[in-house]
Amino acid sequence: MTTKRRVGVLVSGRGSNLQALIDAAEAPEYPAELVLVISNVPDVQGLARAKAAGIPASTINHKSFGSREAFEDALHDALSEAKVELLCNAGFMRLLTEGFVSRWLNRHLNIHPSLLPAFKGLDTHARVLESGAQITGCTVHFVRAAMDDGPIVAQAAVPVLSDDTEESLAARVLTAEHRLYPHALRLVASGLVTVDRERVEGMPGGLGERALFSPPLPDKS
Ligand code: GAR
Repeated sequence: MTTKRRVGVLVSGRGSNLQALIDAAEAPEYPAELVLVISNVPDVQGLARAKAAGIPASTINHKSFGSREAFEDALHDALSEAKVELLCNAGFMRLLTEGFVSRWLNRHLNIHPSLLPAFKGLDTHARVLESGAQITGCTVHFVRAAMDDGPIVAQAAVPVLSDDTEESLAARVLTAEHRLYPHALRLVASGLVTVDRERVEGMPGGLGERALFSPPLPDKS
């Protein structure tokens, strides 16, 4: 068994994607181990999930710092101290500056609940419903300084149903997120992917050529 990559996770809240990563990393052959969880918001569920799993967890509250740079230096120092090699944002709702992003370039993942580059930002599901889109999804991508921007590692497509509410759509997408993030981290931690001219290369194929239709095509067409 080769050495596992040391992963740090940044959270701001509920931490259900963190939980999916914790659960995946329990498998002996999983190529990553979670060594540190940091929240920028005190007392969130994500911190409790980390502690319950025996993972060191701490709060670095952005409100305690005089500048974004000072906050990010503290984050970087904590991650370096724990010898973190790969960083995962899991519901981390704070924009990071170019300085921090460049220090973690192509070693830093984010998950967003849409098929990027569509529907970046907040209130994603409400905007998807408003748009009339029939297929949405979720994306894991390498982090860049612009919000929800960067080379795409993996995506899942999720149907929008005609009677969906924001809550029902969010729940369906979240179920896909919980499968997608561990899958994407596995690929990155295994060293299978590289970034070339802002595109991810080296992904395994296998999706085939079948399109996903909504509404579904009539039988036999
Ligand atoms: C997830 O749906 C994640 O995709 C989203 O926040 C939620 C966090 O849930 N992230 C973003 O919107 C980033 N732009 P969680 O704390 O239960 O993982």
